[in-house]
Amino acid sequence: MAILDERIIQRVRKLRETINDLRYRYHVLDDPAVTDSVYDSLTNELKKIETEFPELETPDSPTQRVGGAPLDKFRKVAHHHPMLSLNDAFSREEVVAWSERLTRLGHLAKPVNYYCELKMDGLACSLLYQQGVLVRAATRGDGYTGEDVTQNVKTIDAVPLKLRQKTTGDVEVRGEIYMPYSSFIKLNESRKAKNLPLFANPRNASAGAIRQLDPKLTAERDLSFMAYQLIEQGEPDFHNQEHQRLEELGFKANVKENFLAKNLEEVFQFHQKVIKTRPKLPYQIDGIVVQVNDRHLFNRLGVIGKAPRGAVAYKFDPEEATTKLLDIILQVGRQGTLTPVAVLEPVNVAGVTVSRATLHNEDEIERKGILIGDTVVIRRAGDVIPEVLGPVKELRTGKEKKFNFNLNSGCPICGRPITKKAGEVAWRCTNPECLGSTLLQIRHFTTKAAFDMPGLGLKVVDKLYDAGLISDASDLFNLKEKDIESLPSFGKKSAQNIIHAIQSKRIVGLRQFIYSLGILHVGVETAQSLAEHFGSIDKLRRAKISDLENIKDVGPIVARSIWNYFTNPQASKYVGRLLDKVEVSHAKTKKESGPLAGKSIVFTGTLETMTRADAQETARQAGADVNDSVSKNTDIVVVGANAGSKAEKARKFGVKILSEKDYLKLISD
Ligand code: IVH
Repeated sequence: MAILDERIIQRVRKLRETINDLRYRYHVLDDPAVTDSVYDSLTNELKKIETEFPELETPDSPTQRVGGAPLDKFRKVAHHHPMLSLNDAFSREEVVAWSERLTRLGHLAKPVNYYCELKMDGLACSLLYQQGVLVRAATRGDGYTGEDVTQNVKTIDAVPLKLRQKTTGDVEVRGEIYMPYSSFIKLNESRKAKNLPLFANPRNASAGAIRQLDPKLTAERDLSFMAYQLIEQGEPDFHNQEHQRLEELGFKANVKENFLAKNLEEVFQFHQKVIKTRPKLPYQIDGIVVQVNDRHLFNRLGVIGKAPRGAVAYKFDPEEATTKLLDIILQVGRQGTLTPVAVLEPVNVAGVTVSRATLHNEDEIERKGILIGDTVVIRRAGDVIPEVLGPVKELRTGKEKKFNFNLNSGCPICGRPITKKAGEVAWRCTNPECLGSTLLQIRHFTTKAAFDMPGLGLKVVDKLYDAGLISDASDLFNLKEKDIESLPSFGKKSAQNIIHAIQSKRIVGLRQFIYSLGILHVGVETAQSLAEHFGSIDKLRRAKISDLENIKDVGPIVARSIWNYFTNPQASKYVGRLLDKVEVSHAKTKKESGPLAGKSIVFTGTLETMTRADAQETARQAGADVNDSVSKNTDIVVVGANAGSKAEKARKFGVKILSEKDYLKLISD
């Protein structure tokens, strides 16, 4: 249980102010500053705090308000029947809970059918017909009172001015005014040409269009209308029939796209299908509406708050969310470019937890005005890599800090100076061999002599890295099958194999761990000496230069390189992150059994079936002591193609020489 403190009180105050401002811009001025999901994300945060600390709740909090105030510029009209809204569900669990609630309430005796509709992302509108003639069109407003937009709605071709069949009494048709993508694109193109601000999405464009005082301007916007509800005497018994009747009366009602589901399982199948077809639709949708098909049952279920119990909006995952920017770190890219990466408080965006996102370069951070500590908007659309759109400046406390590229400590990995050439956007590390190319480091990490993760070769590592799923090797341990499956060219099986290869390396030998760090000048042999000498990673991390110089194979240059590495704050943090994920086994690192036990072996020349490092690792696992140079004490030299002086030396000393094939045979015996 968290403790209520001044910080939380201030946060609640700022959230309320911000949400109220956003709401005003959206509902009253038709000039939204952010997308709905950003607005929802902030409101959810506020709701969460108010739930945890009910003492902070106030009657004027935005969480207590439903609907928006109608504009003054249009005549206000009272709805004959309240225009309700829908409760949202974002997961199967929430839909199941909704349907179970219906059953529990005792209203559902037998299995029910659900009518599933595309949830149009537009603007709700009520059309009133008397003697079959359109007499009034109204926006929802606060649900009871809307705005009379009849003149504007009459410009919409999809709205019949006269119904195509005879009706008795008043008929009310409700539906969504929307702007097809094609019109939206055209509209924005022409606005761009005129240097006018662009609309963020078709919904905002249609909301703006319908509230034009001059109907001619509305007409230019090319709006459309999709009907979803009919209120008339002697209504049909089932909601799907209502849609059919709407079409007969002359409306678009999506009869072909919608679906009558016999049970919840079919609802979920439909939801999945729509997620796939969504990008091909000519208009924007934000979910599906699921409702009890039997109208009598639906009516009996009644209303809770402002929404009917018998219906739910099963929304798609929002593509935007807000979260805290905890830090900015530098990632060394392929060509030594230093890419700033946002470290985020983990947040779920479109079904995936995002904790890192690239900020591209210094100019981008500057342009977006991002400060460390900001609440930022994250977007993840489709399978696209998550993006930081920008800060919510209103939530600043004054403690946010600017990120300074030109750190005195230089490259975060090797410590060498960094530079930015005139005319270039990127900062670069000046060390051409900087292993801080984190990509190189991750590639190194998964090799046989390091963490030995089969299935995580260069190509796979590169793809995971390019997709932004990993930014250092410790991130490998956070990967989920779902993350990998969502990438092109990975299936369920390969995702499973990769996760297995990673997760089976939660315990690793000390030598492998040291080698995996890719410290400059520390190859497998030196890693082995360090492991034998220190016996634990903690002791090695604390070693002084003088301790290091006393070790076999370690000269002053190597000693300094090791010391540099462990005293570099970035590298040290990385080691810490790794140690949070894996356990280093301090069992004796030297192997005393195996077909090569006690033998000293050297590899030379180019091997055919494996890299030198992999070959050395197989020898070590067979119990051999692997060396780089041939001496009188060497027992075996394995000779590959184009071997040079080492092979000669071996002949001179009379050391046993093996081909790669013979060697492989020897260790497999
Ligand atoms: S049925 C009680 N069907 O979504 C309201 N609504 O988030 C009955 N919407 O207010 C609504 N497409 O403006 C229904 N096929 C559809 C819809 C739809 C879009 C809108 C509607 C509603 C809002 C709720």
